[in-house]
This record gives sequence, C-alpha cells and structure tokens, in this order.
Amino acid sequence: MDITEAIGHTPLIELKRLAVGLPNRVFVKCEHMNPGGSVKDRTARALILDAEARGVLKPHQNPPMTIIEGTAGNTGMGLALVAGSRGYRCICVIPERVAVDKRVALRQLGAEVYIAKPGGMKSPDNFRNVAARLAEENGWFLANQFHNPANVIAHYGGTGVTATGPEIFEQTGGTIGAFVSAAGTGGMISGVGRYLKERLPGVKIVMADPIGSGLGEWINTGELGPDGPFAVEGIGSATVPSNLHREAVDWAEKISDADSFAMVERLSREEGLPVGGSSGTNVVAALRVAARTDIVGPVVTIAADLWDRYRSTPWMKAWESREAEGLVFMQPYVAKTYRSRRGFAAARREQLARGEPQQSRREHERDAETRDLADHRGEAERVDALVLRQQQRAPADDRRVGADEHRTAGGRERGASSARPFLALAGGDVHRVLDADADRDR
Ligand SMILES: Cc1ncc(COP(=O)(O)O)c(C=O)c1O
Repeated sequence: MDITEAIGHTPLIELKRLAVGLPNRVFVKCEHMNPGGSVKDRTARALILDAEARGVLKPHQNPPMTIIEGTAGNTGMGLALVAGSRGYRCICVIPERVAVDKRVALRQLGAEVYIAKPGGMKSPDNFRNVAARLAEENGWFLANQFHNPANVIAHYGGTGVTATGPEIFEQTGGTIGAFVSAAGTGGMISGVGRYLKERLPGVKIVMADPIGSGLGEWINTGELGPDGPFAVEGIGSATVPSNLHREAVDWAEKISDADSFAMVERLSREEGLPVGGSSGTNVVAALRVAARTDIVGPVVTIAADLWDRYRSTPWMKAWESREAEGLVFMQPYVAKTYRSRRGFAAARREQLARGEPQQSRREHERDAETRDLADHRGEAERVDALVLRQQQRAPADDRRVGADEHRTAGGRERGASSARPFLALAGGDVHRVLDADADRDR
C-alpha cells in the first residue's frame, strides 16, 4: 500500500447531539481524516493518477517532473504528499490571504511555496493565473483543479480508486434524503450530486455557500451574486469554475461566517469533530435542510478539513483566548487537617442526645473557633517543620523558590499567598481566612 491507497474510505458519523429533535438524521462524512487532513487528498490523487494514465506525468524521473497548482492550501497538501511519494517536484502558488499555517505545512510536506499578491481573476497576480503562467512558461504540469474533469471523477468514481459519492451511497445503504456541501472548485458537489441523482431520483443536492460568495445566487437564479468579503476558507467564489455543474445542484443555502464559526465550536465540543470553518458552514446548512419535512431520509454533509491549519486565523485566535480564560491553575498543595466546623443545629442535637446542656450560638461559635485554632496551629507547625527540613536539604539557589512557595507560621520567610491560613496565626483573624478559603474551594 502507498499513500494514495490510504486516501478515502472515511467514516460517516451521525450528529447525535446537534441534530436531536429534527425530522431527519444528519451524518458527516469525515474527510478531515484523510492523510493530508482534507477532502482535497481525493482531488489531488485523481489529478495526478489521471495525468499519469494519460502519459502527461511519469513518476520517479531524474530530474523529477514538476506539478504546479494555484491552491488555497488543502489541494496543495494533497498534491504535496502524493507528489512526494511518487517522486515529483511540487510547487504551490497560494494567495496571501490564506492562513499562514498552511504555508509552512506545505513546505513541511516537501512542496515549494510561492505566495501570490492579491488580485482578482482578471489580474495577472491572481494565484491561479500565476500558476497557469509558470506552467506554460516552464512546461510544468498544471493540476488545474478548477477546470480539470478528473476532479469531478474523484467524487463520482469509476477509475478503480474509491470515490466520495459511491462511498456515501454504500454507507447509507442507498437511503439518502439530501446531500449538502459547499463548493470551491465544485468538483465534490458535482461528482457526488451526479452519482446520487443517477441512483436516487428524489435525492436533493444542496449547496452551502458563504454570504459574500456569488455561487449560491448563481445556483438559485442563474446570476452570480455580488462579490463580498468572507472569512471561511476553501469554499465560495466570485466566478463559476467549470467543475461546478449547475444541473447537479437543486438549491443553495447562504451561511454567515459567524454561524459557521459558532458551529465549529459546537462540532468540537458536542460531537468530537475537530474541523475547520467550512465544515461549520456545511453543518449549519445540513441542519436547515434536515429540519424540512419535505426531505425524507438522512442528510449527509462533509467535514472538509482539520482545524489545525487555521490556528493563526482571527476566528481561531478569538476562540482560543476565550477557552484560555477557563483554564484552572492549581495552587500549591497545602494539607488542611483542621476539622470543619459542625453546624450549630447538629451540635445542639448531639448535646441533647448526650443529656448535656445545649449551648447558645455564641458559645458554640467560640468553641468552634478554639478548635479551629488548635487544629490550625498543629498543621502550621507540621508544615513549618517540613519546609525547614526541605530548605536545609535544598541547594542555595533553590531556597528562594521554596521560601516563596511555603510561607510559614513562624514568619521566617516573606511573601507567600499559598499558605494563607497560616498568615492568620500571626494576625489572628482565623475566620476571615477560613471563609475566604471555603469560598475559593467551592
Ligand atoms: C475547505 C473546503 N475545501 C473545498 C471544499 C469543496 O471542494 P470542491 O473544491 O470540490 O468544491 C469544501 C467543501 O465543503 C471545503 O470545505
């Protein structure tokens, strides 16, 4: 087996928590579990194996043949790992706006990385135009995922390697109400859509499209929507790629960045799926579709890639800093052997049972305080002795650290917050300290 055979055959996971209560079950095809961490491993494999079958590429040449592609990153990772294992040189031209995590990851996978200046499709600086120009000038193989029909075949099947559409059909036992997915090149939704429609005439194929992309409007009306900004990566477009086949798609759902990123957090926390922003887009749309009563049968969507490649993006950083606020930092351990004070009512019941005179609340409080002080002092002396022994053993440089960590009742060292109960013995207000401790422990 080589790496190309490890691509595909991904699990289909049911969203048992997120889709609870909906009239249709929702499943996620876990494409983030491919070797390169995205659905694009399938595309990359298809583009390279198809070129080899046509004799355009030959593996393991000396010098190696060169593959070049304009890519937002995931196709590049797929190309890089397949190219590496088959002895090709791989060059990825990526737009400046793409998460920087992907740039270095591509280099780590052995690809050369050219970062293109910002520019729309008409600009010679556009990443796809740069890749096409360099391929032409140097006689390199342009993988051309946006227009190469082998991309659609990666999802439709028929070349002897496993494909997304047939896998989904098999995994659902041929019962599927709708397939929902975003489109970047259109290869996946067109390939899966065509495969399923040929077998299940009633199946609905729904595109999830970011607000700001024009593709959804093109599907729904035939006219491209306005070109606006959006932060989800790898999907949506301001132009229609030839691998997006309108007849394979029934309608499009428009999804905001905010909804997509909020869903990523829920997928991670509630379903155990550590995925990127576009998987959130897909799942928001899939839940909408599954809520419709005119859909009958399971709804399948795609977890397109792993979250690891988005660590540097603003939405991921905002999420990380929110989670960082919830971290719990442990205080150094200080044994608490003093007795917890019995409740007033319990003490009075015991006194009654023993035939003793029942104490007033004031007497009860005073006794409890005396007991606490005694327990506390005993503990203070024990820790004191322990710290002293450790200091005698520790090398000189370690002493300050030890001293800061273990403030003692005798007050030999200064400045410890960790042993607050013992400070009280010098100052006297045990109750305040104990209460503060109790609050902190709750
Ligand atoms: C990150 C990412 N890339 C690509 C795609 C779609 O792939 P294609 O280029 O085949 O349209 C998706 C679909 O959800 C995606 O989320």
